[in-house]
Amino acid sequence: MYVTLEPCAHEGRQPRCVDAILEAGIGRVVIASDDPSEKASGRGPGMLRDGEVKVEFAPGEEATAARLLNQPFRKHARTGMPLVTLKLAISLDGQTTTPEGASPWISGAKSQELVHRWRAESDAIAVGIGTVLADNPLLTARTPAVHRQPARVAFDRQARLPLDSQLLQTLDQSPVLVVAAQDSDPSRLTALRNAGAEILVADDISAALSDLGRRGITSLFLEGGATLAAAFDEAAQIDEVRTFVAPILLGGLASGSRRFEGEAGGAPPAQRRPVFRPDASRGQSPTPQAKNPASGRGTPGLPLHHAIKSIGKDALITARFKEW
Ligand SMILES: NC(=O)c1ccc[n+]([C@@H]2O[C@H](COP(=O)([O-])OP(=O)(O)OC[C@H]3O[C@@H](n4cnc5c(N)ncnc54)[C@H](OP(=O)(O)O)[C@@H]3O)[C@@H](O)[C@H]2O)c1
Repeated sequence: MYVTLEPCAHEGRQPRCVDAILEAGIGRVVIASDDPSEKASGRGPGMLRDGEVKVEFAPGEEATAARLLNQPFRKHARTGMPLVTLKLAISLDGQTTTPEGASPWISGAKSQELVHRWRAESDAIAVGIGTVLADNPLLTARTPAVHRQPARVAFDRQARLPLDSQLLQTLDQSPVLVVAAQDSDPSRLTALRNAGAEILVADDISAALSDLGRRGITSLFLEGGATLAAAFDEAAQIDEVRTFVAPILLGGLASGSRRFEGEAGGAPPAQRRPVFRPDASRGQSPTPQAKNPASGRGTPGLPLHHAIKSIGKDALITARFKEW
């Protein structure tokens, strides 16, 4: 028998896998990846060996492929937090919006199709309240590949989510969670609760991720905007980044000070819009279990793995910063 994940010796939503294997009289089990959760951690394979089953762990590439397949499960098992994948679409001049803050479609149709598939693979999609106020998005997975709509999460410390937003008007499609700060206006929280939102009170990103993890969310697809993305980066809470680079200019060269912060002639800091910089070197992983040769993200700012491919007219760069 070949399995992607170590057979379990505990009862969860399903009965114990080891019992089924022993009862079936299977003589040899090849396991592609271990189960790092506390309840498991080798107990299943041990019980199989006690039952005189030959147990082997797959080597090399197969083991790596299985471990990568199970990243959301593995991170959640180790840290109680969801795997965070940041998606960005940027222009050739490195912008996520126009200088005025307008948000035209940046990536092409093929890239957007792919984004909907990624949404469908995630337990939840997150954006900052800036994006909700600017775009009034639905944040649903609009693809035939969807079996279950992901939950939608708005990082909204002051509970500003409009009651007539598309998010709250489409609760029949999937739940909406609002991550608000302790000191947010209680009357706003009550209004949002009455409108059907779930409120999650957390004062920082790590606390919010732990709360999402307790709610069973193992994968969070973070769709920006740049301010929230930068905050996740600052908190060293980004596991993977998928950036579409579209062959358009959004005005980042003309107002170079926005992009090239700190260079001569730049605007005063107070006037600069925050820009997500994937090469930032801040933050260490608070979770030492991640595969991280030097620190929370490997050598600071450098991914463990990356790939570049064409999606329609766009270039897609994917980069994995942590492995679980
Ligand atoms: N090209 C792309 O990939 C892309 C993707 C998404 C959005 N966009 C565009 O980007 C624009 C919005 O971006 P944005 O940067 O202004 O807004 P944003 O990142 O969507 O939201 C920022 C807001 O999130 C809230 N927030 C909650 N928790 C936070 C935390 N821990 N740290 C920081 N902020 C937190 C803050 O408001 P409170 O203080 O009130 O909580 C903050 O002002 C829109 O025009 C949108 O269309 C582009």
